[in-house]
Amino acid sequence: MDFFNYSAGKLQAENVSLEQVAATYGTPTYVYSRATIERHYNAYANAFTSHPTLICYAVKACSNIAFLNVLARMGSGFDIVSIGELERVLRAGGDPAKVMFSGLGKQAHEMQRALEVGIHCFNVESEAELFRLNGVAGSLGKMAPVSLRVNPDVDAKTHPYISTGLKENKFGIDIKEAVRIYQLADSLPHLDVMGVDCHIGSQLTELRPFLDAFDRLMTLIDELSEVGIRIKHVDLGGGLGVKYRDEVPPEPAEYAALILEKVRGREFSLAFEPGRSIAANAGVMLTQVEFLKCTDHKNFAIIDGAMNDLIRPALYSAWMDIIPVNLSSKGGGEKVYDLVGPVCETGDFLGKERSLNLAAGDLLAVRSAGAYGFTMASNYNSRNRAAEVMVDGDNAYLIRARETIEHQLAGEQLLPE
Ligand code: LLP
Repeated sequence: MDFFNYSAGKLQAENVSLEQVAATYGTPTYVYSRATIERHYNAYANAFTSHPTLICYAVKACSNIAFLNVLARMGSGFDIVSIGELERVLRAGGDPAKVMFSGLGKQAHEMQRALEVGIHCFNVESEAELFRLNGVAGSLGKMAPVSLRVNPDVDAKTHPYISTGLKENKFGIDIKEAVRIYQLADSLPHLDVMGVDCHIGSQLTELRPFLDAFDRLMTLIDELSEVGIRIKHVDLGGGLGVKYRDEVPPEPAEYAALILEKVRGREFSLAFEPGRSIAANAGVMLTQVEFLKCTDHKNFAIIDGAMNDLIRPALYSAWMDIIPVNLSSKGGGEKVYDLVGPVCETGDFLGKERSLNLAAGDLLAVRSAGAYGFTMASNYNSRNRAAEVMVDGDNAYLIRARETIEHQLAGEQLLPE
């Protein structure tokens, strides 16, 4: 459920007209709804009240500091994968003691900064990373809290590019090797073994793979306890899917009920790293029709948003819903359009074969664009990245100004004469 609805034929974010947002801030622009972010976060927080649980929003989904701040104010933790994401969390008022540091290529300077600010835990993905972390912690005279990200070898049944829990994926430690590597971690003087972590993929629309992964982690935890290693938390990663079209993903409450059933009588706490299920349907991308180009073969609507602004359709053939901002267009009736951007690539489209009534100048909203939208944007074709706006009730706030060519060129230099 989100707060993007029509009122008198015009699309609003909460109580704010998106036509007004486009008039004020231009297009393409990402627009987020604060009430939706809060609703989605609460869906997790309220589902797990009966067992100690840390919800760590996955910053990579949408990392604007205003977005992170809304979550920080609600007590959310954060899952990060780089020092850049950590700095964003700190700037947004997030509590470092609720930060999980994931990712398989952590550099020494990133580990150092994370240790200095006192994060909750490092999710470690290889033996080599354990040695590096132990060394960095030792040089600071600190103990590093660690979990191992294990690869439980379950099929998340999602797109191959975003499925991460199979043994052929680059992520995590083979669960069969895990006991030995936990013993290694336990023997290193500057590591404090805290937890077990896994993340099996993204946009999962079934709970079965999560439950299978959880069962495999439980077996591992029992094996670890036999060799004297006590696990304090289990982090099941992110991955719960959202509705883009006709998917019917489970609600956090259904997920919680099944997991809580399994943890009854267990001492460890839980952690989750949801990204998409909090951010995706809390944002839209506004774009404007520049030209209509109708040929014998196809009708194209050339829009001002492109693959550099929103790469999911080009990269994953992802289907994103595209709807008019104003239901009364001056177009001459519905036609089937491909919605394409101005970038010089055939793959530059946001939607194909959509029935829409369009005229040049019309505004469109790409729905479910709050996750992996702006964060995956680039400057390809030297296009300035979009503006970002957050709506809160009756008000819209600019939370990231549209980039300018000066921003793009800062740091570039000519060779000397
Ligand atoms: N934790 C870890 C370790 C992750 O790698 C990810 C996402 C998450 C949590 C959050 O997963 P979520 O709840 O958002 O599914 N760009 C792709 C998605 C890539 C996901 C990468 N990892 C897309 O646009 O579909």
